[in-house]
Amino acid sequence: MKTTISEVYKHAEKEVKIGAWIANKRSSGKIAFLQFRDGSGFIQGVVVKADVSEDVFQTAKTVTQESSVYVTGVVQKDERSPLGYELLVTGIEVLHHAVDYPITPKEHGTEFLMDNRHLWLRSRRQHAVMKIRNEIIRATYEFFNENGFSKVDPPILTGSAPEGTSELFATKYFDEDAYLSQSGQLYMEAAAMALGKVFSFGPTFRAEKSKTRRHLIEFWMIEPEMAFTEFDENLEVQEQYVAYIVQAVLKNCKLELKTLGRDTEKLEKITAPFPRITYDDAIVFLHEKGFDDIKWGDDFGAPHETAIAESYDKPVFITHYPTSLKPFYMQPDPNRDDVVLCADLIAPEGYGEIIGGSERIHDFELLKQRLEEHNLEMDAYKWYLELRQYGSVPHSGFGLGLERTVAWISGVEHVRESIPFPRLLNRLYP
Ligand code: 4AD
Ligand code: MG
Repeated sequence: MKTTISEVYKHAEKEVKIGAWIANKRSSGKIAFLQFRDGSGFIQGVVVKADVSEDVFQTAKTVTQESSVYVTGVVQKDERSPLGYELLVTGIEVLHHAVDYPITPKEHGTEFLMDNRHLWLRSRRQHAVMKIRNEIIRATYEFFNENGFSKVDPPILTGSAPEGTSELFATKYFDEDAYLSQSGQLYMEAAAMALGKVFSFGPTFRAEKSKTRRHLIEFWMIEPEMAFTEFDENLEVQEQYVAYIVQAVLKNCKLELKTLGRDTEKLEKITAPFPRITYDDAIVFLHEKGFDDIKWGDDFGAPHETAIAESYDKPVFITHYPTSLKPFYMQPDPNRDDVVLCADLIAPEGYGEIIGGSERIHDFELLKQRLEEHNLEMDAYKWYLELRQYGSVPHSGFGLGLERTVAWISGVEHVRESIPFPRLLNRLYP
């Protein structure tokens, strides 16, 4: 019976056939242990010399790391293995003999591993991170579908810059200037006026010269947008959504979290609601913590965010930032116009901002004024302004950075491990 490693539990005590690669092996005179991987998981195969033909035992002894095989064997319960099963091998057919696979079980440096990302993805830890990424994406679609959102796909080639003009990747669109999307938000606002509650999931590009463990040049963002939705309601959706994906990973990725050595107790605490602190109070808090240099109007850096996050065991919303720090489209606080109705969601354990969101300006005149203040080309934003001319409504939305969220939930140090092929300041290969 042909099966996959993740399905062997259905075939206990039976003989199965699996297409697999050799992840690792060790052998002695009488017995060989082969670690098989097939993409769905990892399983240990035991080859006992006395129980198999001379041919099969020779193959087990000579087969190399990352050779591809069809293996047959009897599925046996094994309490000690993380999977709960092992394979008593009865036959091995080598499909391709790999020679000198560069990533050996010994330690390698990061640059070497990044140069070999196309192969590094096969390793147990990287496999686990990609599975968790996949589960977060799956749970994202589930959450928004169950809550009445429609998925809408904004364009990647655009003529406008929602998040400021300094970090754009410019390109030619025949004779016109175009940019790779920084955020689909403006288009999602148009979609929300057509479909009510919408979300997008797609790649975004930032030509940021940042070389930190939180920054990618190309990253994937989930951007929900909701008509007739004000500031507080927006935060409620965010905390429900983030709690939902964390709980989904805890439920469906037990093996992967174990492989990564993730402290799951910390994740179990991630339930709605999340704490909130205003920017004003955050400044006071930081002064108390000894950050003497920071003053009202300054943006927070990673050390500030981490200091704030450390006093909570859940993600924390920092709300009401100074207007001057945020993009042109954010709705001012009705009680004071030096701050906006926005929130950044800061993940625990030093992973930084995973969500940026806000209520949007829905007044035509105010939005026009802001576009002027930000020196944005009115022609490119004509359509965006028109959304405020025909049945404008209070509306809000947010963007969750997938890679930072994957890094946090997986407990990996750097976002470069939470995307299959990271685009970094000095890296376009592989
Ligand atoms: O805070 P940002 O810039 O917000 C927006 O783009 C809004 N237009 C979203 C919206 O309201 N629809 O980005 C949102 C999130 C950040 O919180 C962060 O998680 C992630 O995107 N992000 C990055 N992730 C990796 N590398 C980068 N260079 C990132 N820049 C932002
Ligand atoms: Mg932000």
